[in-house]
Amino acid sequence: MQQVRAVVAKGKGQPVSVETINVPDPGPGEAVVKIQACGVCHTDLHYREGGINDDFPFLLGHEAAGVVEAVGEGVTEVAAGDFVVLNWRAVCGECRACKRGDLHYCFNTHNATQKMTLEDGTELSPALGIGAFAEKTLVAAGQCTKVDASARPAAVGLLGCGVMAGLGAAINTGAVTRGKSVAVIGCGGVGMAAIAGSALAGASPIIAVDIDPKKLEQATAMGATHTVDSSASSGVDPVEEIKRIAAETYEGAEGADVVIEAVGRPETWKQAFYARDLAGTVVLVGVPTPDMKVPEIPLIDVFGRGGALKSSWYGDCLPSRDFPMLVDLYQQGRLDLDAFVSEEIGIDDIEAAFEKMHTGDVLRSVVLFS
Ligand code: APR
Ligand code: ZN
Ligand code: ZN
Repeated sequence: MQQVRAVVAKGKGQPVSVETINVPDPGPGEAVVKIQACGVCHTDLHYREGGINDDFPFLLGHEAAGVVEAVGEGVTEVAAGDFVVLNWRAVCGECRACKRGDLHYCFNTHNATQKMTLEDGTELSPALGIGAFAEKTLVAAGQCTKVDASARPAAVGLLGCGVMAGLGAAINTGAVTRGKSVAVIGCGGVGMAAIAGSALAGASPIIAVDIDPKKLEQATAMGATHTVDSSASSGVDPVEEIKRIAAETYEGAEGADVVIEAVGRPETWKQAFYARDLAGTVVLVGVPTPDMKVPEIPLIDVFGRGGALKSSWYGDCLPSRDFPMLVDLYQQGRLDLDAFVSEEIGIDDIEAAFEKMHTGDVLRSVVLFS
């Protein structure tokens, strides 16, 4: 067992605090990872607000990269010294999805068996089974995905959650390829990654939609070919605008082939529904709150327009397949993960980073550990 500093949410709505925690030595199938960088994600804030469940205290943080310090008995997939990105889809091999061969849908990820605790022995609940706003954390070995050790931790750690969700929403769930038109509604960290993924896949046009003009500027830098300001004051109907732009490129198109909703609200999902071409695909990657309902849409429109209405969990990624490949593309200069790192902060700055999520100036704040 060893003691390290970590960020803990002790109670609903209370500011987080930096605490000393106990990290057990790795048991069978487990690994202790020395964290180098961990991004601040909306889900961390949702945990703190009690929006996920009531299993306080939470050990926050889950978009991380670091170096394996030690592994437990029987661990063969990683070894001490490996540079890894942590994932929350450590394929179990036993759930229904795994058994039918859909490993990227595994819904029973492995987590560490032993518990990390506060100094007084209170058990911690690690965010998404990771808990990486910590100098060191204990995870299941399968949660460690080995990648190119020369990559920048602050950038590649983001593949551990939000950026992978957006990239995968485009490339995996939406099956975006060259020859297809894409619209992305909501250009935060997730939507911006969907734009980057669509650009990587060669899609055109790539239409970025947001209510914040600052985001649209960034979206262009990320690979969007067109931007649509959908704020009420702009007077623009984003559905009509997406249709118009798609038809400019592909004669007769009645919308974009793939529309990615990266806000997580009924009204933007409805825009996505009507902005896609006949037989097109809608991908919902934004996370709605439990009170939200599917917007009222005539069933005949669902039937008559054909196509697919999908949701994307963690970008339908398979970490062992996707993380090393994306890190290689980053290292080759073909995927600009650095653009997602808006600021590097310290372990004491998490509350300030939560605040900045509301101003729209930051794609990702990333905590660095020395
Ligand atoms: N239409 C278009 N864009 C909108 C709208 C709207 N009605 N409302 C908000 N947006 C934009 C915001 O301006 C912002 O750029 O959506 C973006 C949301 O970005 P972030 O708040 O940075 O969230 P992000 O990290 O990208 O996550 C997107 O997925 O993980 C979930 O909880 C997260 O639901 C959120 C979504
Ligand atoms: Zn499984
Ligand atoms: Zn996350």
